[in-house]
Amino acid sequence: MVGSFVLVIDQGTTSTRSVLFDDQARRVAIAQTEFAQHYPAHGWVEHDPEKIWRDALTTAREVIGKGGIKPKDIAAIGITNQRETAVIWDRATGQPIHNAIVWQDRRGAEMCAKLRADGAEELVRSRTGLLIDPYFSATKIAWMLDNVPDARARAERGELAFGTIDSFLLWRLTGGKVHATDVTNASRTMLFDIHKGGWDRALLDLFRVPEGILPAVKDNSCVFGSTVAGHFGCSIPIAGMAGDQQAALFGQACFDRGAAKSTYGTGCFMLLNTGAEAITSKHRLLTTPAYRLNGETTYALEGSIFVAGAAIKWLRDGLGIITHASQTNDMATQVPNSHGVYMVPAFVGLGAPHWDPAARGSIHGLTLDSSAAHLARAALEAVAYQTLDLAEAMVADGGSRPERLRVDGGMAANDWLCGFLADLTGMAVERPGDLETTARGAAFHAGLATGVWSGLDELAKLWSREQLFEPGMDEEVRAPLVAGWRDAVRRTLSSSG
Ligand code: G3P
Repeated sequence: MVGSFVLVIDQGTTSTRSVLFDDQARRVAIAQTEFAQHYPAHGWVEHDPEKIWRDALTTAREVIGKGGIKPKDIAAIGITNQRETAVIWDRATGQPIHNAIVWQDRRGAEMCAKLRADGAEELVRSRTGLLIDPYFSATKIAWMLDNVPDARARAERGELAFGTIDSFLLWRLTGGKVHATDVTNASRTMLFDIHKGGWDRALLDLFRVPEGILPAVKDNSCVFGSTVAGHFGCSIPIAGMAGDQQAALFGQACFDRGAAKSTYGTGCFMLLNTGAEAITSKHRLLTTPAYRLNGETTYALEGSIFVAGAAIKWLRDGLGIITHASQTNDMATQVPNSHGVYMVPAFVGLGAPHWDPAARGSIHGLTLDSSAAHLARAALEAVAYQTLDLAEAMVADGGSRPERLRVDGGMAANDWLCGFLADLTGMAVERPGDLETTARGAAFHAGLATGVWSGLDELAKLWSREQLFEPGMDEEVRAPLVAGWRDAVRRTLSSSG
């Protein structure tokens, strides 16, 4: 091992950050930059892959400088990323043929509806653990192949490569030498058999995706390749990759069956470790690989909510009633309750457990004395209510209710939200000292593969709790609140939901 620091590139939906960890998994430095969202049509969301690459490289170089270390002090690089977002690029030039189509993009809704009507749901669910939804990469790939001139023919000729963001960054970091992804990212394409651990012929045919454009699929902790010297002045192994939600589960040290975490970023994603068993959900949750180490897969049940922090961003950028997300903490406590106001943040449809791409956001129960504080509180409460819906679906799927829920992501800094979450779900909410848990998970993977850390036992000891929020709400208070939420959701679902 050359050095003992681990550098992580955490490429999220609205920002790209690089984080440097030392061999005690302490965060040494962070560099971050937000980037533009492109909305070229109603329900479409795109990112510029070149901007993503530039930001990844720039923040990585910046964090090395901020940490006061040399590139040769870095043992390994880990990559974690917004999942499902699809990029297709030219193998010869490395140039993307189109903007990245983002996980929130709904343009595949019609194709998904047709596949469901044709009865493909069981095939997709049994092989991939997913429900047919435009959220996943397959229909985004199909759209690019069908709509970018000449793309399908070029893909058939082997001239194009597809990847989720991890794969695209790996390609660029290795100077086009490595076209690979990890099992967690592969599992979100809707083309990957999570039981056999490989691309699935029947699904490739269903979505008309030529196999030749797909990356090799590897364990989460392994040396994927090395950076070309030009990027950092020396070659550094890229030794860990994982989709951001699975990385967060790993970073929260949720290694035991029954351990659960919820990450509050742009969306909210709750994952419950189910060990070596891939549980098939009867309540419209996803079955997903949590991590694969030395060829052994650990699975999780996942509840995916598309809008969490994005609702707060909308209060700031859309409504203009706050100037900074942290204000919502105070606003929520200024009022004794939400005064009957419910926000159902279905801005890009509803994910688990409803899976209704046609639903749109709604606010219920407004009166003339409703204030900005009530709206802010309703937006925060919606995040907790949605987490409750996921937790109940997980329990109904046969898991016992986890006693503890580890939380992370930007919104987990909000004390009021953590307390309300505990009250509503009945679970003790544990907040770790470092909320950059996603990056930490990718660091764990990269450090495991390169000998910085010895194994899961050592990683578990590196996790520490900053605060515990115990549930304390009386059922007479809780029950009508939850009933009001359920009613608001029912009114928000589209006729197809
Ligand atoms: O599945 C989408 C998810 O990976 C995005 O995560 O952190 O950008 O909300 P985030």
